[in-house]
Amino acid sequence: MAEAIRFLLGEEERALAGISPTLTVLEYLRRHERRTGTKEGCAEGDCGACTVVLAEPDGAGGLKHRAVNSCIQFVPALHGRQLLTVEDLQAQGGALHPVQQALVELHGSQCGFCTPGFVMQLYAGLLENRLTDRQAVKDWLAGNLCRCTGYGPIIEAGMQAGAARRPSARAQGLTAKRLGALDDGTMLRYQHRDQQVFIPCSADQLAGIYLAHPDAVLVAGATDVGLWVTKQHRVLNTLVDVSRIAELSSVAETGEGLAIGATVTHRAATDALAKMHPDLGELMRRFASIQIRNAGTVGGNIANGSPIGDLPPALIALDARLTLRRGSTRRELPLEDFFLAYGKQDRAPGEFVEAVFVPRLTQEVRFGCFKISKRFDQDISAVMVAIRIGLRGGSVEEARIAFGGMAATPKRARAAEAALTGRPLNDAAVEAAAAALIEDFAPITDMRASAVYRLKVAQNLLRRFCLEQSGPDRPATRVLELAHG
Ligand SMILES: Cc1cc2nc3c(=O)[nH]c(=O)nc-3n(C[C@H](O)[C@H](O)[C@H](O)COP(=O)(O)OP(=O)(O)OC[C@H]3O[C@@H](n4cnc5c(N)ncnc54)[C@H](O)[C@@H]3O)c2cc1C
Ligand code: FES
Ligand code: FES
Repeated sequence: MAEAIRFLLGEEERALAGISPTLTVLEYLRRHERRTGTKEGCAEGDCGACTVVLAEPDGAGGLKHRAVNSCIQFVPALHGRQLLTVEDLQAQGGALHPVQQALVELHGSQCGFCTPGFVMQLYAGLLENRLTDRQAVKDWLAGNLCRCTGYGPIIEAGMQAGAARRPSARAQGLTAKRLGALDDGTMLRYQHRDQQVFIPCSADQLAGIYLAHPDAVLVAGATDVGLWVTKQHRVLNTLVDVSRIAELSSVAETGEGLAIGATVTHRAATDALAKMHPDLGELMRRFASIQIRNAGTVGGNIANGSPIGDLPPALIALDARLTLRRGSTRRELPLEDFFLAYGKQDRAPGEFVEAVFVPRLTQEVRFGCFKISKRFDQDISAVMVAIRIGLRGGSVEEARIAFGGMAATPKRARAAEAALTGRPLNDAAVEAAAAALIEDFAPITDMRASAVYRLKVAQNLLRRFCLEQSGPDRPATRVLELAHG
């Protein structure tokens, strides 16, 4: 087993030892490397000031790049990867990179605190060729906050930066080779004092390690676990980083549906979900930010059991099935049965989420989902609903309606479903279903919404979905432009 976290910091090789495995990448950069260009704004993934770019081999001789929030990534996430910070963009004689030059020329910076984060997010957009038009740049920057400049000049700069030259395929190939040599493909066990982290490379290794250490904390994208450390100051003694397991990180599309591995990131799942239904694409577009979607995983969104996670209601309405694995034993269950109570899921010690299967929608089935949050971008839902209705001859044959934000778990609206089933989809049925939501849910009041608002908005969303199904111009999706990224 390897013993050090090996990676490239820019072009320089590093082998980390003697530091905590829950040190964040941001703290490591600022305190250990004195790379203070990367800033801390919120320490919870919300503001983008700490954005850095991670590169890893793409399996075809080149590199794939991801912008992530360094404030919530732990240092083991660097193993076998290249870490690029704002300092790396200025390496050649201090000359500004075209992204930086564009921000200067178009007055995209005032106090400059947010600027390194914007630079790195735009640099990632350049590498991925995503800065193609105004809307694309706006979507791309949804996870970067600026308090003083105003977004107009920054967006202009992003459009100008999109035309800059990308690093050559040859340069990327050389870096990919260097990264290949750093990572020998075996499981890493890294220890510092009484903290240790395992980084398995296969599902079998994960199953074995987790069985041996059932109290370990699994870390996938760390977009929740990172905050346990930065905000709750929890000390995590044993971690298993599941993010390097190729078998768990692919989406298989078949005639029956989508098999999504647990460690597929939200970014990587978006296209397949959007193809299944455009509303799912819009949901993913509004899921956090690009940086969070680049790290956060489908498995983490399910396993954390949050009552306000966005994917569980959508997947429950789609009748998804979850595969759990403990040692060599697998079991499958309907996703809705996984959520038992607040903070309690049907998962035994040493058992992990391996995959989720999402059946394809058929022609006769109508589907829609809505996310209600205070901000359009980068916000957690106050209420989220997904509705799947099977119609035959104008009557509702089957209804599956799942809500987030209305109960202690993601939950189906059984009374509302019963009120619709077997009836024509007319005003009387819809009003009966809206009234039945009062039996289904007793939502709470919190900082996102009041109980009264939640119930009202839930009823109105149900009405709206049903109206859309009966109207002549049934829209493909309700949100403005097409998804970008
Ligand atoms: C700024 C910000 C914005 C966000 N916006 C949204 C949003 O819009 N919508 C939304 O739904 N969520 C949002 N989230 C929450 C979070 O990003 C998601 O829940 C994400 O999917 C968690 O995945 P992860 O891989 O990062 O999980 P991690 O943080 O790595 O893990 C989360 C939990 O799941 C467990 N776990 C992870 N993988 C497995 C597995 N394979 N088997 C068993 N247990 C596992 C971990 O042990 C931990 O308990 C946001 C978070 C932040 C910080
Ligand atoms: S410091 Fe705000 S996202 Fe990291
Ligand atoms: S320039 Fe001051 S926060 Fe953006």
